[in-house]
Amino acid sequence: MEGWGKYRGGRWLPVKITAGGVKQNPSPNTTEFKYRFGEEMGFRNDPRALILGLLIGFSTFIHCTPTLRDINALLSVNASQGSTRKMPENLFGVSFEEINHAGAGGLWGELVSNRGFESGGRHSPSIIDPWSTIGNYSLIRVSTELSSCFNINPVALKMEVLCDTNGVNACPVGGVGIHNPGYWGMNIEGGKTYKLVVYILALNPINVTVSLTDSTGGQTLATVNIIENDVSNWKKIEVALEAKMTNHNSRLQLTTNRKGVIWFDQVSLMPIDTYKGHGYRNDLYKMVADLKPGFIRFPGGSYVEGNYLRNAYWWKDTVGPWEERPGHFNDIWSYWTDDGLGYFEFLQLAEDLGASPIWVLNSGFSHQEAVDPTKITPFVQDALDAIEFARGDPDSNWGSVRAKMGHIEPFNLKHVAIGNQDCQMGHYRANYLKFYTAIKKDYPDVKVISNCDGSNTQLDHPADMYDYHVYVNAKTMFSMANKFDSTSRIGPKVFVSEYAVVNDGGSGNLLAALAEAGFLIGIEKNSDIVDMASNAPLFVNVNNKAFMPDAIVFDSYRAYGTPSYWMQRFFSMSNGATLLDSTLQSNSSGSLMASSIWFQNPTNKNNYLRVKVVNFGGNQVNLKIAIEGLDPGLIDYYRSSKTVLSSTSVMDENSFQNPTKVSMVQSKLRKRRNDIFVVLPPNSLSSFDLLISSNDIAQSAMNGMSYVELI
Ligand code: AHR
Repeated sequence: MEGWGKYRGGRWLPVKITAGGVKQNPSPNTTEFKYRFGEEMGFRNDPRALILGLLIGFSTFIHCTPTLRDINALLSVNASQGSTRKMPENLFGVSFEEINHAGAGGLWGELVSNRGFESGGRHSPSIIDPWSTIGNYSLIRVSTELSSCFNINPVALKMEVLCDTNGVNACPVGGVGIHNPGYWGMNIEGGKTYKLVVYILALNPINVTVSLTDSTGGQTLATVNIIENDVSNWKKIEVALEAKMTNHNSRLQLTTNRKGVIWFDQVSLMPIDTYKGHGYRNDLYKMVADLKPGFIRFPGGSYVEGNYLRNAYWWKDTVGPWEERPGHFNDIWSYWTDDGLGYFEFLQLAEDLGASPIWVLNSGFSHQEAVDPTKITPFVQDALDAIEFARGDPDSNWGSVRAKMGHIEPFNLKHVAIGNQDCQMGHYRANYLKFYTAIKKDYPDVKVISNCDGSNTQLDHPADMYDYHVYVNAKTMFSMANKFDSTSRIGPKVFVSEYAVVNDGGSGNLLAALAEAGFLIGIEKNSDIVDMASNAPLFVNVNNKAFMPDAIVFDSYRAYGTPSYWMQRFFSMSNGATLLDSTLQSNSSGSLMASSIWFQNPTNKNNYLRVKVVNFGGNQVNLKIAIEGLDPGLIDYYRSSKTVLSSTSVMDENSFQNPTKVSMVQSKLRKRRNDIFVVLPPNSLSSFDLLISSNDIAQSAMNGMSYVELI
């Protein structure tokens, strides 16, 4: 029987059909092939494999006409040297914003909320939420006072204890005092150590008990006493608390049963085992690190702008000793942040992740205000100072501040974004040009990113890159795989710094992830002009869902990835990988998207050819992958694998109860012949990783010669 198999050189080449499928040359063991083919198609040792094989043969015979529901798609991958292109090293990264308590009460390990009592404002009287008292008004009174030893954050807590150790006025058992629940409960884990720092002032000797308890104060997990005879001047006190039990909803208590007046300020509680001791919550850090981000954009988003400039992110307020940082009200997302995760910590985070830092600065706009270009000079100087802080010599003005914080060497800051979504603001271009000119003068190698969209028309101002944000429904996102196909290749590169499916994306469902995967495949293909892309937002604390969906969901002690997070993992090897030409032919091409890359696993140095395919439709697709320009003998199928992201329903989401309902499922590839036949489940993202048993991929790609399907 003769049919038509591979499309090459403008014509379909004939193939011979066997009962088991497409017969290869030299002749395969037909029976073995049949079973292996059946296995790959999901019908292991099943007579249906035979029938399917016949159907496939027949469909191939009729030019792969997909009216038969067997081989209904063909992906031709060209691994020849001439048809490859290296993708940018930083193509896929993450966009961190202080939103949804991503940092304060999230990635940043600080367990005390409002540690400096400043959240009510730099005035007194002020509210001290979420601190509360232990003991009623007849026993204890707390108030705020502007008596801190820190000028910049002057509010301190004054605690008047009216009861005493003995006598008729004796304090209740356990004493009276204050407690802090952290961010919806502190995660205290048995066997772990927590470092408490507190500044104390009192006129008389003190005996204060520091304890970690359950949320009611009934059960004590750790306790230590602070006994000081002379704290008549503000004194910094540090103690270690070793937890003997675990409670994910704990609180910190400072109590006493001694009459007197005590002032507290800057109360911090950090777990000892943060990532590298750098303050990042280990589990959340690891989830980000597993994405292998090429860059990290920070600190936002709208957070950079603020509703009002007085509440915007000003980096100078976030560096230096943590006790001396004033903190600020994040008025865009409506919560106070102590700025423990400050500009220095973001740069450190980028370095720890091995990601390029992308700093977004305020270009003179809040959501309510605009700074006139004639008054923008101080903002520009602030930007230059920030770059000096990151990159300057340790003896430079701002480089010395960084060095004092423990990082003598400069950070690798090479990208600065001028504003966030500000292009439409009246003076944006004028302000932008001031920043651009000043930055380029002092730091010509810094890549400056404009807020204006140059994807359809050329920018009217100089820029190295321009920022592009997209929040659309799933169908639109999938169709946007072609968004940059016709973007001019002359001029600045694209930075898709925020993309996400919204509206029908639920709290993060499979539908959104697949649509985004299609979009990212389009970005891989357009990575000659798109230089970087990141999903947004990255994090959400379940207790503060201000913006949904997000990639990583967490509470005080747990975290899981939404399908979108797992989808991004499929692209974690794309940075710096080599894109291969690939062509998809199918009747369902409107719902299929595919790309092929070479990459080297950085750990074991093995080389892989990875084919990713999104099936955005509700029907199964039987796909043939034909690879040209690669000696098939170099593919080690036994050590090759496939990974699938799918679920029963396209609206499925993950949850704390079922955190991996929609996640990557890996299995071995069993096929051992030249062409690969695979099943793409309905609504799925699949990745086929073919291990190439050659040390030199470039050589194995040879010179365009085809080794496959020579019938
Ligand atoms: O990513 C969430 C928000 O969406 C960002 O703060 C803003 O840039 C965008 O509008």
